[in-house]
Amino acid sequence: MAILKIVRYPDPLLKKRSLEVGKITDETVHLIQDMVETLYAAPGVGLAAPQVAVLQRILVLDVDYENPGKNLLKLVNPEIRHAEGEVVWEEGCLSVVDFTVETKRAARVQVVALDEKENEITIAAEGLLSVALQHEIDHLDGKLIIDRVSRLKRDLYTRRIKKAARSGKPEPERPGLMI
Ligand code: NI
Repeated sequence: MAILKIVRYPDPLLKKRSLEVGKITDETVHLIQDMVETLYAAPGVGLAAPQVAVLQRILVLDVDYENPGKNLLKLVNPEIRHAEGEVVWEEGCLSVVDFTVETKRAARVQVVALDEKENEITIAAEGLLSVALQHEIDHLDGKLIIDRVSRLKRDLYTRRIKKAARSGKPEPERPGLMI
C-alpha cells in the first residue's frame, strides 16, 4: 500500500473525462487500496482516481468519520440512476486547496456501480453521502467545484494559490469537509 500524491487545480488532468474500467485486474484492486490509504491520510471523505492521476472511473468514499472503514465504499464505473430533491451544501475538495463553495445538489441519489469483484451494487444515498457521490462522479467527468463560480472568482483564486506557492508559506489548515 502507498499514499499517492493528490493532483491539484489547475493541473489539466483534473479537467479530463475518465474512462470506464473494462476489467477489474489485480492492478485495479491495488490502485483502490492505495486510494483508500490516500483518502484516510488526507484526510477526506471521498477520492476519485483522476485525483491521483489515473483517468479511470473509480471512487472511494467514507463519510462515516466516527467509524473509519465500517462504511467504506469502493466503486468502479459508478452511475447515477435516479436523482431527486435539492440540497445546498458547502463543499471543499482535496484537489482545490483552501476553497469552499455552496453547491446545489440532488438531495437523494441512487448510484449503480461495480465492486472490486465485479458484482453490481446499488447505493441509495441522502445527505452527505449523496453530495459526496455527486461530487466524486463530477471528478470522473472532469468537473470541479471551482468551475461552479464566476470566471472572476476563479481567476482571483488561481492568482491566490500561485502567489501562495511562490511565497513557500505552509498551507492553511483545511476546513472540515474535503471531498
Ligand atoms: Ni473533490
